[in-house]
Amino acid sequence: MDKIRITGGQRLDGAIPISGAKNAALPLMIASLLTDETLTLANVPRLSDVSALSRILSNHGVDRSIAGKRIGQSAETGQTIALTARQIVDTCAPYELVSTMRASFWVIAPILARMGEAKVSLPGGCAIGTRPVDLLLMALERLGAEIEIENGYAIARAPRGLKGAEIVFPKVTVGGTHTALMAAVLAQGTTVIENAAREPEVTDLAACLTKMGAKIEGAGTSRIVVTGVARLGGAHHAVLPDRIETGTYAMAVAMTGGDVLLEGARADLLQSALDVLVKAGVEVSSTKEGIRVRRNGQPLEAVDVETDPFPGFPTDLQAQFMALMTKARGTSRIRETIFENRFMHVQELARLGAKIRLEGDCAHVEGVAKLTGAPVMATDLRASVSLVIAGLAAEGETTINRVYHLDRGFEALEAKLTRCGALVERLSG
Ligand code: UD1
Repeated sequence: MDKIRITGGQRLDGAIPISGAKNAALPLMIASLLTDETLTLANVPRLSDVSALSRILSNHGVDRSIAGKRIGQSAETGQTIALTARQIVDTCAPYELVSTMRASFWVIAPILARMGEAKVSLPGGCAIGTRPVDLLLMALERLGAEIEIENGYAIARAPRGLKGAEIVFPKVTVGGTHTALMAAVLAQGTTVIENAAREPEVTDLAACLTKMGAKIEGAGTSRIVVTGVARLGGAHHAVLPDRIETGTYAMAVAMTGGDVLLEGARADLLQSALDVLVKAGVEVSSTKEGIRVRRNGQPLEAVDVETDPFPGFPTDLQAQFMALMTKARGTSRIRETIFENRFMHVQELARLGAKIRLEGDCAHVEGVAKLTGAPVMATDLRASVSLVIAGLAAEGETTINRVYHLDRGFEALEAKLTRCGALVERLSG
């Protein structure tokens, strides 16, 4: 297994191109199942999660072609993928495939909407806590589907098609909102989704579905109204920039000091996280080219943070922010409200010298003067990258094991950091 070795202590200076958002690309790819025409997606990041989902989709009969590289494109520029589900050849998503990636469970909605039945393996456990799918299934039931759970599979049937209805989510769920949207676009009549997730990835999916011919109002607010249509067609859509990658590199620059332009990044996608960085003493400015992040000698101040659904502080930046706070002046309290077990990075950050005390859903991070390098490993994607951020500022060498987590979600991580002066190398294992 590959490892990443970081020699800490270098400032970051230069520019980092921001990739297309993984968490938008995955539901957009799944939306290709809704039509027999071609859905062309541009700015799709080169990530192992994207390849894994491609394999899952091809099992259902989706043809994929990837546009060749054009002049000026590099491994850091997103790819253009054309997906065509002329026929759905298999309505079953088996355990072997779904267990590798949670988001693939969402195929249940478009397959059910188009074929009247779908059988999808329930996703397995996940390192960041229990991640149930009861609300996703509730949404499908509201639209008239009959659901059975049998031998580890969710079997959904709607032989006479789905019917528009009111879906009220008792808590904000991104996966639930994606599922409800993809099912409702082909249902007969009107669906109202209350307490919908307002995440930019939901808005991006709705924008793409609209280009495909869907009738959707209110995406980006907590009340989405969908008027079902009989069929959807092909479309061309560019994936929005990755707000989590943006925030991650912003925190890396905040950690090491330096001056970096995050090219193509959009401040409106992560304003709450940028506001927190400003409070911590980091200079952040939005330009036509992207977001510029600077810290030149000013100390880092401790800031308290609580994760929340969008537009709040994202759970996907909690680990990275905790890494940053390990070197702040004072004690920062970080509360995780979305996932109950998303503190796996704490023990590993402690190996680098961080002082963190856990109390229920809250981490108290007492800033220390210095971190020192060590071998570490992490059990999920965002936790892994928090160790990269800490390693960039630690004295000496930090080796991060289980790099496959990083490859799931960060396109060309070493190349992007290296071009800004970091000493990062991949050791093949
Ligand atoms: C969540 C995050 C998303 C992040 C992603 C990957 C939120 C609101 N969602 O999305 O920003 O990118 O993880 O880390 O921040 N839940 C249920 N039953 C369900 C579905 C969800 O109880 O059927 C609960 C979850 O356990 C969790 C909360 O609802 O506590 C939000 O989950 P959800 O938004 O669905 O998770 P993801 O779609 O994975």
